[in-house]
Amino acid sequence: MSRIFLGALGACMAVAGYQAVTAAPATPAPLPAAITDPDLARSDYVEHCGGCHGVRGSAAPAQLPELLGRVGWFMCTPQSRAYLIRLPNIAHSRIKDNQQLADLVNFVVFGLGGASVPKGSVPFTASEVAYERQFALSSASLKAERARHVESAIRTCHAPAAMRLLYPGQIVKR
Ligand code: HEC
Repeated sequence: MSRIFLGALGACMAVAGYQAVTAAPATPAPLPAAITDPDLARSDYVEHCGGCHGVRGSAAPAQLPELLGRVGWFMCTPQSRAYLIRLPNIAHSRIKDNQQLADLVNFVVFGLGGASVPKGSVPFTASEVAYERQFALSSASLKAERARHVESAIRTCHAPAAMRLLYPGQIVKR
């Protein structure tokens, strides 16, 4: 196969992947007006997060938490909301502009999270992001942190028990 053909194929796949994000996810949700630049938020997600989490927020069966239709549950309590910004890949993001990072996270939560966002949740602001990103979590504490916030979302906001898994249908080895 020629290198030119492979290059063209790659470009097509990249475009298709991008469109998969712009097309409605499984749980379509209007993006909040607080997102100042929705197109930039989408492309920032693809560039900074999509490589691991998948361009549509699903990377199963990779051992990564599924964002699609699930990530919104973390808006349940002030602590679990802060967890989203304190995640190392968010807090230490190369995106230094706090409004731009707030837009990205709001795209992830409301756009990919869809119906999992508890009613009445308010979008992140630049100042909340600026504040919380100072308290970045260490990779070592992530598993316990996630478990704690999942339990509180189940208790407080009736998140489904399957949130204990990284993605629906994950087989947990004991
Ligand atoms: C190098 C791979 C990688 C990149 C890049 C990455 N993440 Fe993650 N992300 C992970 C892993 C691994 C976890 C699971 C951490 C844990 O709980 O052990 C995770 C956890 C999360 C969670 C928590 C979800 C849950 O159910 O607990 C969110 C939200 C998230 N990432 C969003 C993002 C966003 C937004 C970006 C881009 C700014 C991003 N990630 C970039 C690997 C990545």
